[in-house]
Amino acid sequence: MRSNWNRWFRARQQKVSADAAMVGSELMQKWLKTSSIATIAAVVACLAAGPKETAAQTLDGESIVNSACSSCHKRLPDGGVDRISAMRKTPEGWDMTLARMMIVHGAEFTPEERQAMVKYLADTQGLAPEESAPFRYILERRPNVIETIPDEDLGTMCARCHSYSRVALQRRPKAEWLKLVHFHLGQWPTIEYQALGRDRNWWEIASTKIPETLEKAFPLNTVAWNNWQKQEKKNLEGMWQVVGRRPGVGAFAGTLKVDSDGGDHYAAVYDLSFADGKTWSGRGKSIVYTGYEWRGSSQLADDAVNEVLVVSDDGNSMAGRWFLESADEVGGDFHAVRMEKGVSDIIAVEPSHLRAGTSAEISIHGVGLNGPVSLGDGVSVTKMISATPENIRLEVKAASDAADGLRDVQVGKTKGTGALAVYRKLDSVLVEPAYGIARVGGGFTPPVTAQFEAVGYLNGADGTAGTEDDVRVGVMPATWSVEDFNEVAADMKDVAFAGTMQQDGVFVPAMAGPNPQRKYSTNNAGDLKVVAKVADGDGQLEGSGRLIVTVQRWNDPPIR
Ligand code: HEC
Ligand code: HEC
Repeated sequence: MRSNWNRWFRARQQKVSADAAMVGSELMQKWLKTSSIATIAAVVACLAAGPKETAAQTLDGESIVNSACSSCHKRLPDGGVDRISAMRKTPEGWDMTLARMMIVHGAEFTPEERQAMVKYLADTQGLAPEESAPFRYILERRPNVIETIPDEDLGTMCARCHSYSRVALQRRPKAEWLKLVHFHLGQWPTIEYQALGRDRNWWEIASTKIPETLEKAFPLNTVAWNNWQKQEKKNLEGMWQVVGRRPGVGAFAGTLKVDSDGGDHYAAVYDLSFADGKTWSGRGKSIVYTGYEWRGSSQLADDAVNEVLVVSDDGNSMAGRWFLESADEVGGDFHAVRMEKGVSDIIAVEPSHLRAGTSAEISIHGVGLNGPVSLGDGVSVTKMISATPENIRLEVKAASDAADGLRDVQVGKTKGTGALAVYRKLDSVLVEPAYGIARVGGGFTPPVTAQFEAVGYLNGADGTAGTEDDVRVGVMPATWSVEDFNEVAADMKDVAFAGTMQQDGVFVPAMAGPNPQRKYSTNNAGDLKVVAKVADGDGQLEGSGRLIVTVQRWNDPPIR
């Protein structure tokens, strides 16, 4: 996250210097002065705790807002502050606003003050867990997400330059949604084109219908937020059992020890290992915003990673995504459950599928696991290898006449619903994601890779693939290749130029820039069909997806 910010603001700063040199106006000179090296350093603050975080912790965000912002934002008779009080946002949302106040309007504050203000604003004017829930993919920086936008006008007006979730992760009254529309027009007059403004009364829609629609969907005052503010926020100290996945690599599991670092700041010690035995351990720090938004940054073996997690209402589990700081498309699911307090839960069974008539070793990961193990009809435990409350390793056998389908895994009274699949022959293979994006890179901007996986499915009771009752068996080893997606791609020889498909399902795009060896000297972009071949018994199944290899993302703020 930090490095993306860095790049974003470095690029902007270079542009500012260039503009100022050309225009030479007083305003530009002032802008440049306020964007001095010191200020730019301040702009690269990160939402997870950093080296200077002890200073930020002791600062009072409320009084800094009162002093750093009051020269432009006046106090209102009701005790609030003009513009600032009448909206709620995620920590990332507040951080982006503060960055704009600094860069565009010249507000002055230090990185520690900025972090303290984000903490204060996200705590007092944040989103309730259920309000942020549908749009967490953007905070988690999940790649390849295709958004569902409920309203056509919102889609054409507000989700063409940035994600719809940037909008949906804010809460405002109508008047403030309208001011946001005005701000957009003032800041980016070309918005008329982006918002499909040439053939309709776009300004009328933008200034009347859009604020109304947004207030109805995302109002400032909600029951969810009122209730959340009243709820006691949980202390996260203690031992946690962790299970997660790195697509293309496999599952990992282990423990997380969380210690208080003052207030909502925590120190974390991870002791994790992958299914193949490779350890992935280390330390990290985190800040919990709004009582449930865990933002961590850790060093696990050679990887600098960030975690974006939600703490559950009862404070006993955390779930979300981790990703590499240097390449946030590389990452995976992360799930932690508290080991104390009599909590018991099955978090994962790995591997989660078993072929009828075969034996295998499986691990049941969870907390508070205690009691007899049952794996459902036709699956028997042939040997107990080891058992702790967090991990049970077993040798199991699926009878040759065991029925196809999902099994509930039960340890004592604790149940993992549909946690184990039994199958004899796969009916289909799907490539996930079905539609992926990779980006050419080089120089300032490294390439963005795309990870694909081949997932085996059963047809289910109706005997037809692609219907709701299909059974997801799990990720299968596959042989990977790419083909030109259509005639245009074939004519441009996209397969030859766009990059390389590796046998671990990772597509590594080619270098950016005009390529004189290509037709029209075009960039190494491409439109590819991704093909996975999966061996299944004596036969072979094939699945395919689509991959767009496109240009770099130059502007990469925390909420895309
Ligand atoms: C130098 C003047 C200046 C200072 C100092 C300043 N702001 Fe602003 N602020 C503005 C202007 C101008 C706008 C309206 C244009 C915009 O939204 O960028 C604005 C708008 C806002 C908004 C509404 C943005 C939205 O999403 O619609 C918020 C919130 C805000 N400021 C917060 C702050 C906070 C917090 C501080 C103190 C750290 C601060 N501002 C300091 C000038 C300033
Ligand atoms: C011309 C491209 C463009 C269009 C169209 C556009 N936006 Fe934005 N929007 C931006 C950019 C760029 C920013 C980042 C501003 C900054 O530097 O903080 C932004 C920021 C935002 C923010 C965050 C502002 C803050 O400080 O919290 C919200 C919310 C938002 N846009 C909503 C909307 C809505 C609603 C619409 C439709 C009415 C819309 N956008 C249409 C370019 C666009």
